[in-house]
Amino acid sequence: MSEVTMIGLGPMGATMAETFLAAGHDVTVWNRTASKADPLVARGAKWADSPVTGELLVVSQISYQAMYDSFGDARLDGKVVVNLSSDTPQALREAAEWVAGRGGTLVTGGIMVPPPGIGKPGAYAFYSGPKPILDRHASTLEALSEVTYVGHDQGLAMMYYQAQLLVFWSSLTSYMHAMALLRTAGVAPSEFVPFARETFTGLGSDGPMGFAKILAEEFEAGVYPGELNSLHMQAEGLGHAVAALEDAGLETTVPQALRRLFQRADAEGRGHEGLGTVIKSIMKP
Ligand SMILES: NC(=O)c1ccc[n+]([C@@H]2O[C@H](COP(=O)([O-])OP(=O)(O)OC[C@H]3O[C@@H](n4cnc5c(N)ncnc54)[C@H](OP(=O)(O)O)[C@@H]3O)[C@@H](O)[C@H]2O)c1
Repeated sequence: MSEVTMIGLGPMGATMAETFLAAGHDVTVWNRTASKADPLVARGAKWADSPVTGELLVVSQISYQAMYDSFGDARLDGKVVVNLSSDTPQALREAAEWVAGRGGTLVTGGIMVPPPGIGKPGAYAFYSGPKPILDRHASTLEALSEVTYVGHDQGLAMMYYQAQLLVFWSSLTSYMHAMALLRTAGVAPSEFVPFARETFTGLGSDGPMGFAKILAEEFEAGVYPGELNSLHMQAEGLGHAVAALEDAGLETTVPQALRRLFQRADAEGRGHEGLGTVIKSIMKP
């Protein structure tokens, strides 16, 4: 089994350290607040006085600034830093240069599960950066999740991660609006779950509701057929849904923003096209 140093012991990093330990790796830990390492040291991890200890440094912190704050002026000669923290793709590219300037190599990542999912079937993480370096450590990183390599550009892992989170946050926020609306008429949230499941599943399917695939194909082709369900019709329908939320006395910031986007695409003269035409407005703010 290999040696790995876990830097950052928030809910994610602590679970990663536990998972590496459970997989039989030799785990060293470092965290700004040292006391968070105590339970891990009790389970067999070693505490490091410096985060720059060992060859493979896996980082899980709030942002890339935290890595700069943690490493300070330390040299990173021969070290591989695998950073699974959130930031902008551009911040990750700059961090790759920063690490290289200190003699190390940065592999960037975005892990797609919360702490309870780490190391469990179905967990995966996007990785980008130099593939041979990732390949060298893939068997260790596989303890956390499936390793999904998305390209050499160090910003890509975060772009994929954020692409997934945009879908996650916006759809779940709309789901909360949906539950809240029904609740005002006395419908229990659990009564709505089977219908919401139908929608979530359908969107990813190959059937007539399979809009994940349909919109991707339309975007690639640059053609947005709207004969059967025009954007104009949907902008009107969305207006009705916003009014329904207002009538029910609920908050409407997100649905209003959606409506503004739909209305802009309509006002730009594409109301006769399908919903997919909204991407044109997104591409050209
Ligand atoms: N939680 C999730 O469900 C989840 C899922 C996927 C990805 N992520 C990503 O995983 C990363 C870690 O998330 P998290 O939930 O574990 O908690 P978090 O609150 O994002 O990060 C906590 C960690 O960051 C450290 N930190 C913050 N500022 C620092 C600084 N200036 N210098 C050094 N260390 C600093 C904290 O150290 P102290 O202990 O000293 O405060 C702690 O170790 C984030 O980037 C998050 O976006 C989270």
